[in-house]
Order: sequence, then C-alpha cells, then structure tokens
Amino acid sequence: MAATDGPRERRIDTLIAVFQREFGRAPEGIAEAPGRVNLIGEHVDYNDGLVLPFAIDRSVLVAWARRDDEAVWAYSADYGEHSRFTLANVTHAAPGSWANYVRGAAAMLRAVPLAAGGIDLAIAGNVPAGAGLSSSAAIEVAVAGAFRAAFSLEIDDVALAQLCQRAENEFVGVQCGIMDQFASTLSQRDHALLIDCRTLAHEAVPLRLADAGLCVVVANSSVRRELIASAYNDRRRECDAAVVELRARLDRPALTSLRDVTQADLDRAIAAGETLPLRRARHVVSEIARAAAAAEALRRDDFGEVGRLMQESHLSLRDDYAVSSRELDLLVGLATAQEYVAGARLTGAGFGGCTVNLVRADRIEAFERDVIAPYRAQTGLPAEIYVTPACDGLRAWRL
Ligand code: GLA
Repeated sequence: MAATDGPRERRIDTLIAVFQREFGRAPEGIAEAPGRVNLIGEHVDYNDGLVLPFAIDRSVLVAWARRDDEAVWAYSADYGEHSRFTLANVTHAAPGSWANYVRGAAAMLRAVPLAAGGIDLAIAGNVPAGAGLSSSAAIEVAVAGAFRAAFSLEIDDVALAQLCQRAENEFVGVQCGIMDQFASTLSQRDHALLIDCRTLAHEAVPLRLADAGLCVVVANSSVRRELIASAYNDRRRECDAAVVELRARLDRPALTSLRDVTQADLDRAIAAGETLPLRRARHVVSEIARAAAAAEALRRDDFGEVGRLMQESHLSLRDDYAVSSRELDLLVGLATAQEYVAGARLTGAGFGGCTVNLVRADRIEAFERDVIAPYRAQTGLPAEIYVTPACDGLRAWRL
C-alpha cells in the first residue's frame, strides 16, 4: 500500500511519476475505482437478493497509455512488480498475485466489440487487501475502466461490472456474486446503492449521515480471510441444496431461487424438521427482507431502524449462516454495548475482515477507546478503523 498512500492528489501525482519512470513516457489517462463496504444485504447477491453497499474513500488508481502492439505491460507500484502478457493469449500469473485481476479483466474484455489493443498500465491502491473491502474488484474495475477509456469501448457501466465479475468467476476462480464489482463501478457520492441482484435494477438511496450526526466507521479485525474461497463456495452449494429441499417440501418443482421464498414458506418447510441448508436459507430470506427494509428506513432517515436491522443481520450471519468469527463477534459486541453506536455488523464475506458501524460523529475517539483498545488487548491483534464517506464509483479522465 505504501507506494502511493496519502491524500488523493498526491497519490495521483506519484502514480504519474511512477508511470513515467517505468515506461519512459507520460500516461494518457487515469482510471480510479474504489473499494466498498456493505451496509446490509450479506450473502444474498448470489441468491438474486437485494444489497445496499457504497463505495469507500480508498481506491485503486490506474495510469495508462496505449501501445502500438498487442502487449499489456502492467506495473504494480504497491508490489514493485511488472506483469507482461499479450491480449491474444492471456495466461495466469502465480496464484494469489495481484496480476491475475488485471489479466482476468483483460481476458474478458476480448469479447467486447471494437477490440482493445495493447496498453501500458501503472497501478497503485490503498484499499487494504484481504480485509473484505473489495480490493480485488477495485483492481478489475479500474483496469476495465482504463481499457474502456483508452479504446473507446462500447460497454456501459452495468456490462463493465458484469465483465469484472466474470473475470473473478472464470479467470481468478472465485464464485463471487455481482455486488462488489457493481458497487465499485456504479456507486454515487453521498448515497448507498440498492442493487436488485436478480434484475440489476439499481437505485442510489441518499445517505444523509451528517444531518443525523452519524458517520460510518469500518473496523478492521486484522484477521485476513485466508480460507475464504472454499468456505464461500460451500455456502453457495448449501444455498443450492436449500432450493432443492424447498422444491420438495413446498411442492414447488419450478422453484429456482431463494429470492422466491417467503418467510412463511420457510417457516412451513422448517416445521417439518430443520436442516443445515434450511438454516442457511433462513438467513438469506430474512436478510433480503432486511435489506429492503433498511433502504426504506434510509429514505426516511430512520437510522435507528437501520441500526436495528444491522444488529439482526449480524446475528443471522453468526447463527444461521455461520460466517462470523470470534474476533468479528467481539468487535460487534463491544460496539453494540456503546450508546453512541446505532448499529454494527460484519461486512463482506465474513470469516475475518471488517465490521461496519454507525457511530455518532462526535464519538470516534470514544469508539477507539471503548471498542478498538479492548479488542486489541483481548486478541493481541492490531485492529484499525477507517471513517469513510460514501464516494463515487469508477471515474476515468484524460491527462
Ligand atoms: C464477497 C463477494 C460478494 C458477496 C459478499 C457477501 O464480498 O465477492 O459477491 O457475496 O462476499 O455478501
């Protein structure tokens, strides 16, 4: 992260200088894509559900200039590494490397009309990696945004987000839903983005935090989500299994998605005996309802209700979906004990990473004292907080 951290203007200037140094010429443009935090609607995007994320003020910047061949030369300022490949044959970099997000986006872009050509890219980000704030989606979206600007590709924002999700699914091999790439591309300043992951209809819902004297505090548990890919894919399979069970128990052979299951349906099915897939389904069905209710509450600035829904969401993720951890539960427990915290829950995939907290804006220091300090003392882990406004998604400009 260190290479270009600091205020945004300085990060941009530093990256331009890095590009000049590595490629011996000036970049033609910059693309910038943010990380995201999810307010509510967790583990429902791959169940056709509703999610309510927003873009944070940490981003990946890509400086670019076209080449006159088919090669892509990418340089990561954060890792001090080059990665080179050709568009005709996009091969994989070492597993876990930042370069696979660049390569994945480039590989998927080949399908776009008015094909892309070769390009030089210098990349620098300050979204913490492995913290559940979508640093990988930010790389994919920023790289796709750079290609789109450089070659005037005819691809709208929704299609760009979908393409970046495919990069993750088909190239990187993580079966994520659409939320992260969508939020990184289409978020709007001072709004949360309500996304219907079935239709991809989306609505920017005003997030009038300042008027309510609140701010969003992201607390990083400092536990990296190492084993996440396998546990994440397990949950996806359990949701598929739940659909199969519900088809039989509800006698609905055409059922294909938990989105089409109501709470009453589920109660009826569970009355015949609770199974593990049905517990997972109970989280999904209730979480979709909570995300809809939270968007409604935001529209009327009812942050008390948003906070209450966040609490319920955390318990459901902990008890029915089993994606929390001792550390996340500790952070959430310490936070909810404070009268100046309206709501707290794990955010992102879970198993580690971050919590999202609605905190009175004049009590951030108290939050450090009452939540972060005891967490550090009890776990020995170096937790930290990020206070973030809701920011714009993908931006690109020429220099
Ligand atoms: C990860 C995935 C998203 C979503 C969340 C859980 O961030 O990339 O698609 O499933 O987990 O809500």
